[in-house]
Amino acid sequence: MMGYRIFLAGASGAIGSRLTPLLHSAGHYVCGSTRSEAKAGVLRSLGADPVVVDVFDATALSRAVAAARPDVVIHQITDLPKDLNPRDMGAAIARTARIRSEGTRNLVRAAIAAGARRLVAQSIAWVYAPGSEPHAETDPLNAGAEGDINVQGVIALEDLTLKSPPLEGVVLRYGQLYGPGTASDQPSNSAPIHVDAAAYAALLAIDHGAPGIYNIAQSNRHVATEKARAELGWTPDFRLPA
Ligand SMILES: NC(=O)c1ccc[n+]([C@@H]2O[C@H](COP(=O)([O-])OP(=O)(O)OC[C@H]3O[C@@H](n4cnc5c(N)ncnc54)[C@H](OP(=O)(O)O)[C@@H]3O)[C@@H](O)[C@H]2O)c1
Repeated sequence: MMGYRIFLAGASGAIGSRLTPLLHSAGHYVCGSTRSEAKAGVLRSLGADPVVVDVFDATALSRAVAAARPDVVIHQITDLPKDLNPRDMGAAIARTARIRSEGTRNLVRAAIAAGARRLVAQSIAWVYAPGSEPHAETDPLNAGAEGDINVQGVIALEDLTLKSPPLEGVVLRYGQLYGPGTASDQPSNSAPIHVDAAAYAALLAIDHGAPGIYNIAQSNRHVATEKARAELGWTPDFRLPA
């Protein structure tokens, strides 16, 4: 098969570290980012060509993305405490909102300048405005909400991803992650998703499905997931070999 060239921003994170080996074993070249020199070796062992860069350093980011000559850029950056400890969440919510707005803007610019075709970005599936459930991707987000999520940050990430021609933007609205590298071993919350199935959706999204938004979660009462199954060929049962 002909592999693509992929720039994976956030290759060391919960999803990124499951997605890197998936992309690599599917025959794609993966340039994977981390801010930490110490994690470069781990990324290499997962099958990525590591690059150390901070998404807020626009110049360095552009240089790194250009050097990778990507067909597709995948955005899996958040900045949350591993255990999601409430004590640390306030600052983490602010940092993640900044990543979703300013960080995504930097990544979009770098992707366009590098001539990438598609951008696949991580969003979340539990900030729909109250209304009848299950929520389809066309339902409005809860723009005025305050709380654990900065919804304005989510909206900024999605708008930048979907409205930055000539990039084909794909937004993956993930439910609540569980599994290796996450805060939870078991499904919990309203729309759970195993981290391997989350990574699998990103693998498929590099060349399946029209640009747009896809809910990615196990079957549940709150968000509809038929679109990802039908258009990406995705299934929530996917797991990496042990
Ligand atoms: N949908 C969900 O439920 C959801 C989504 C995401 C995360 N989480 C939860 O949050 C916790 C932490 O997850 P995680 O390890 O994936 O998240 P994370 O610690 O927030 O890291 C994600 C990735 O983003 C990168 N990153 C963070 N800030 C960056 C910056 N300024 N510039 C460039 N890269 C940056 C990290 O790279 P470095 O190597 O530089 O740190 C890492 O690769 C877990 O419990 C996870 O389950 C849940």
